[in-house]
Amino acid sequence: MVAALPAGAAEADPGAGEAEAAGAADEAGEAAEADGALGHGGGGRGGSTCAGGAEAHAACSRESARTGANGWDRMREQSTLAGVNPRFSLPPFPSGWYGVCAADELAREGVVARTICGREVAAYRTASGQPRVVDAACPHLGAHLGHTSRVEGETLRCSFHGFRFDATGRCVETGYGTRPPPKCVLAGWPVHEVNGFVLAWFDPAGRAPSWSVPAAPKEGRWTRTRSRLIRLPAHVQDLAENSVDVGHLSHVHGYRDIESLGALVIDGPVLRARYAFRHPRGLWGVGKNARAEIDIRVHGLGYSQVEVTMPEVGFRSRQFVLATPADGEHVDLRVGMCMSLVAGARGAMPRVLARTPGPLFDRLMGGIGFRAFVADVQADVPIWSTKHYVDPPGLAEGDGPIGRYRRWARQFYPQLARPAADAATPAA
Ligand code: FES
Ligand SMILES: [Fe+2]
Repeated sequence: MVAALPAGAAEADPGAGEAEAAGAADEAGEAAEADGALGHGGGGRGGSTCAGGAEAHAACSRESARTGANGWDRMREQSTLAGVNPRFSLPPFPSGWYGVCAADELAREGVVARTICGREVAAYRTASGQPRVVDAACPHLGAHLGHTSRVEGETLRCSFHGFRFDATGRCVETGYGTRPPPKCVLAGWPVHEVNGFVLAWFDPAGRAPSWSVPAAPKEGRWTRTRSRLIRLPAHVQDLAENSVDVGHLSHVHGYRDIESLGALVIDGPVLRARYAFRHPRGLWGVGKNARAEIDIRVHGLGYSQVEVTMPEVGFRSRQFVLATPADGEHVDLRVGMCMSLVAGARGAMPRVLARTPGPLFDRLMGGIGFRAFVADVQADVPIWSTKHYVDPPGLAEGDGPIGRYRRWARQFYPQLARPAADAATPAA
């Protein structure tokens, strides 16, 4: 059942703290509605750029001047195709909160090196417990702080020349006892620690965070949150699209009797979808073909949270799907899960589990449940790793609200805002 990872997809830090699904209501007409190309762009924190480079951008601009609205869209797509990955006609780094690491990783590793949205960063936790994410290159002479630095109290000391930087990024000490250079400032990223994960904010237009990811309530007894990192050649928008891709649930995951539990709800950067289905495998063979109800909340394109309840067997789980664009070609996908029992659940298994001591409860429920969850995700990985972003898609009834999802997703690409003159051009 566990699909082999394709070439290019690598599973990372399997020990890190050992550390998806589907409304028929707005499917009809999706093919006609599904808005077109989302090309052009690239992005950096300093502003928007054409991912196809200056030459492609110039060609794109010349072409757009003579093509009108539809042609402009098409050329944006083509310019992007020229510069990034031919599988994706999308800018690689949309705006949003992206997973850096599991919260407990910072305690274990000290300082962690990552690549997020094409930037190398270092993450650490100060002595008072504050997580920090900073540009990896030391502003003195460029040592990689993710590999050559250590935390000292509330500061980070670079191992190359011993300069120390406080939580504001200011250099407070040189390695020679000389006056700290005032212009030697370490750039920090907006950070948010929530639900057991450290997130960093990226925006291609350099805008500050305008929304956040809420903390999930944790009433009752839960297992600890386990997580695993999987690197794959993919685009973050394709991963989150699975949340509304009803059609794949039966073909890829084997779910049966899939039904919508309400219309897709869109609230700014949050998209919510609810479905029910029969699960073919259950857990330990328990709950085979039992009904599962899932409530998905997608917070931007980098963070999704899924509440799964299996009322017939008394299990529930909370799944985390953190998709972080790494280098423009790969996504670092961190999947996490914790489990609990449905309050007042009847049946032998929940009764036994309710009386099971904490560590065993954690191992039985959390460990086995997590393996089943990872196996489900791995079924998607070979598809994400090789698929193309087809735009417009050839949708059919039964697909789920993919067009609505894609229109919602546009808000995370500020560089795709239409020029005023073009936007005013009536469609032919
Ligand atoms: S490069 Fe970091 S202190 Fe010199
Ligand atoms: Fe899936």
